[in-house]
Amino acid sequence: SQIPPLDVVLFGATGDLVMRKLIPALYHLHQDGMLSAEVRIIGVARSELSSQAYVDRAHAQASTFLGGAYNDGTWQSFAARIQYQAVDATKPETFKALASVIGNTGRACVYYLSTAPNLFTPTCRNLADAGLISADSRVILEKPLGTDLASNKAINDEVGQYFGEKQIFRIDHYLGKEPVQNLLALRFGNVLLEPLWRGQWVRDVQITVAEQLGVEARGEFYEKTGAMRDMVQNHLLQLLCITAMEPPASLEPDSVRDEKLKVLRALKPITGASVGNNTVRGQYRAGAVGGQPVKGYLDEAGIAPDSNTETFVAIKAEIGSWRWAGVPFYLRTGKRMQEKLAEIVINFKPIPHCIFDTCHVGRPVNRLVIQMQPDETVHLHLLAKQPGNTMRLGEVALDMDFSETFKARQLEAYERLLMDAMLGNLTLFVRRDEQEAAWRWVEPILDAWAESGEKPKSYTAGTWGPAASSALLGRNGHAWHEEI
Ligand code: BG6
Repeated sequence: SQIPPLDVVLFGATGDLVMRKLIPALYHLHQDGMLSAEVRIIGVARSELSSQAYVDRAHAQASTFLGGAYNDGTWQSFAARIQYQAVDATKPETFKALASVIGNTGRACVYYLSTAPNLFTPTCRNLADAGLISADSRVILEKPLGTDLASNKAINDEVGQYFGEKQIFRIDHYLGKEPVQNLLALRFGNVLLEPLWRGQWVRDVQITVAEQLGVEARGEFYEKTGAMRDMVQNHLLQLLCITAMEPPASLEPDSVRDEKLKVLRALKPITGASVGNNTVRGQYRAGAVGGQPVKGYLDEAGIAPDSNTETFVAIKAEIGSWRWAGVPFYLRTGKRMQEKLAEIVINFKPIPHCIFDTCHVGRPVNRLVIQMQPDETVHLHLLAKQPGNTMRLGEVALDMDFSETFKARQLEAYERLLMDAMLGNLTLFVRRDEQEAAWRWVEPILDAWAESGEKPKSYTAGTWGPAASSALLGRNGHAWHEEI
């Protein structure tokens, strides 16, 4: 459905996320005819810029992320939607100017807060005082929403004074990725997987989000954050929820979010002494990624020379439920890893009895691999007869290449999520109680790491992380997907 007339107000409009993701996403929606003619985009930031100067800047920066989709004529018609207004989130008087740009149209406003979280409260307060929040308004919050449970609750309380929960769209861009939604389709659109999707048939689940990038220009932010807060608390736990949740009754927002919440609440706490056995934290040292030499974390700009911040985390998690009791969910994420790879791997159990010459008894071959990055694919690994006069079996993979089958262009995560927020659909956004449950599980691990005073294990940039990460699985006789 087409997005009805409304105003999208982008706070932090000169920042990286807006230029790299949001403007390109809106351009794509415009190009595909998804935005009704009256949809306006209002960029807001502190710099004093004219609308034209902002459009020029957006053209110079954002258009480089459009690749082949860029077209001069389309850009011109898209740019006609964009206005800019200088606003200082902490200065109430500057919101008057914003109010006059928005005007008295009575149209819904979608406020995207792509700013530091300490600006969320003043922004919301000043929007309210300027009469810019109505029952139709929505607010999109970009992470990080706090650094622990208490600060997360404080942000949610503050924003909650001005917007009802149904007006708050907490972004986790991993939920906007096409393969993640495809996991919902595969699990709940087919009868084949659901009976096998449980501890009786699944040996272990692996969720990996590995990046080749280092901390880039975000050293100062990353140093206070680390991989656990940056990736595990949000993206990896959301992927775990989608993988493990019970079938929801519908795709209604609360139907899906209730089921995800149950998973988070059923995660067995990892606390105190069990943290050492079930988690690994690492930090990269100098090495080479993709053939290029790269610095170690401690030599990056903005990093303390004796920093204990982790750039890699591996965790063995367990969900205490009838469906999943005893099945390890291995989570792993890291910067400066060997490959850029995001995938969910379901390793099914080996067959109980072999009647062929080769069956690989003891080693699981049935494996469902849902890859999000670098390619969006699903592979189902099976055994089949090798040609010839024996009954020797060999591994084959059923490859589901969605771009081949469905020729349509795949939506980028931010495109999908912006569209949903503009349409008011909360299904792919994180509810407050989910976010808090995730912090509640993550916090004792962070506390135990801090109390132990142990340094993260060093790993060479361009590898799969510290050796302890393989050992974490090895203790159960398991191995990471790339080691199988
Ligand atoms: C962000 C993190 O949320 O996700 C970044 O803050 C990380 O550190 C990024 O690089 C990864 O997202 P994607 O979509 O590139 O895998």
